[in-house]
Amino acid sequence: MSYSSSATATGAQEGAQSKRGFWSSRLAFILAATGSAVGLGNIWKFPYITGENGGGAFVLVYLICIAVVGIPIMMAEVLIGRRGGHSPVNSLRQITQRDKLNPAWKWVGAIGVLAGFLILSFYSVIGGWALSYVGTSAAGQFSGQTADAVGGIFSGLLSDPMTLLSWHTLFMALVMVVVARGVSSGLERATSILMPGLFVLLLIMVGYAMTSGHFGEAVSFLFQPDFSKLTTSGVLVALGHAFFTLSLGMAVMMAYGSYLPKNVSIAKASVTVSVMDTGVALLAGLAIFPIVFANGMEPGAGPGLIFQTLPLAFGQMPMGTLFGTLFFVLLVFAAWTSGISLLEPLVEWLEEQKGMNRTVSTLIAGLVCWVLGIASILSLNLWSDVAPLGMFAMFEGKTIFDLLDYLTANILLPLGGLLVAVLVGWFMSKQALQNELSLSEGGFNLWYNTLKFITPVAVLVVFLYNLS
Ligand code: PHE
Repeated sequence: MSYSSSATATGAQEGAQSKRGFWSSRLAFILAATGSAVGLGNIWKFPYITGENGGGAFVLVYLICIAVVGIPIMMAEVLIGRRGGHSPVNSLRQITQRDKLNPAWKWVGAIGVLAGFLILSFYSVIGGWALSYVGTSAAGQFSGQTADAVGGIFSGLLSDPMTLLSWHTLFMALVMVVVARGVSSGLERATSILMPGLFVLLLIMVGYAMTSGHFGEAVSFLFQPDFSKLTTSGVLVALGHAFFTLSLGMAVMMAYGSYLPKNVSIAKASVTVSVMDTGVALLAGLAIFPIVFANGMEPGAGPGLIFQTLPLAFGQMPMGTLFGTLFFVLLVFAAWTSGISLLEPLVEWLEEQKGMNRTVSTLIAGLVCWVLGIASILSLNLWSDVAPLGMFAMFEGKTIFDLLDYLTANILLPLGGLLVAVLVGWFMSKQALQNELSLSEGGFNLWYNTLKFITPVAVLVVFLYNLS
């Protein structure tokens, strides 16, 4: 299978027809979709926003968002992709033609292109942090260090724009190479080994965290809701993160859905991907917070949280240099497969709309993201006081990096998802939806009514509360 648009339609047909044993297209879909979903969002972002938003109550709202907003929208996106059978914009065009709807719906794909471009610019900077930690860890620099020393390594990295730039450049180059060539079966096979590897390593980390003596504290922090700590903006962050972590609202799942053969259950595939994604995030939380509490660190330390806690644990555990290096390699890999899915829509768009070939469109798209990434790098050091939209109360004190994260995860992705829910729930033919999903009547109605009534209302209410 290839991530390239040109291969999408034929890929779906071939996948449906060929019987390549264990490399079924169902597995290919699950791997690609999980590769996109599991990334920095799970391991880097989830723990730190949970820490910033007070723990349990935030986690509960996040889990509810996954169930009532995330899974229904993922099914809707996959359904659009499979029914349309093309790249997102063309799938949407097909569907609007078939169901005689307003052609303007194809602009939902455009929101995705814009969001992917903005996200990748800062995602690549964080991917760069992970890359640099592979080297730091392999050199044994975390071994036997104190919390202060580990914190010093991290702040040293952030204060050095040139080093950040080199790692950002390397990460972006890795993403561009794969996107330019179309994803080879090699990478797909690698995903099937490295993803379980990441899972096992996280389990080892959780096992280590259990011995820290503060595991119980971490479990209650994560799972005992204290609603006095939850703010309305925390609810928006939880909702936005449900979109970010499942790669929704950006048409990625539409692109991948077009590979799915007709006999595979969209519901089962979507639930599988969502459960794995959520599992990785919760494991990351269980690995990180015991270390935070054992070392008297601040749960709300912000984006540096995992880069300041995990190395400390690796530095103290037996074979920590090996485990630490492996962990950051796997983190890079998880970020890489997500990065690919972030660049792909923009490249497809350039190919389709501007008629450029794949290499040229990848070069242009990647370069533009890379340049915008420099602004995020500078906002970590030289421009750390610059808050471009600081005159608005909701953006007060937000640097360029914070703003890009906030605007994409909390506004663009939920908006894209809202439009998908409205299109599928209110406009597409119900009969067609039933045919695509082939669920029991009860199962179908549960999904349909959630998507039609609950999902859009939930997104709108959270939006309006935060604007007021
Ligand atoms: N889901 C990815 C993560 O959690 C990020 C992502 C968002 C990828 C949107 C694609 C689209 O890291």
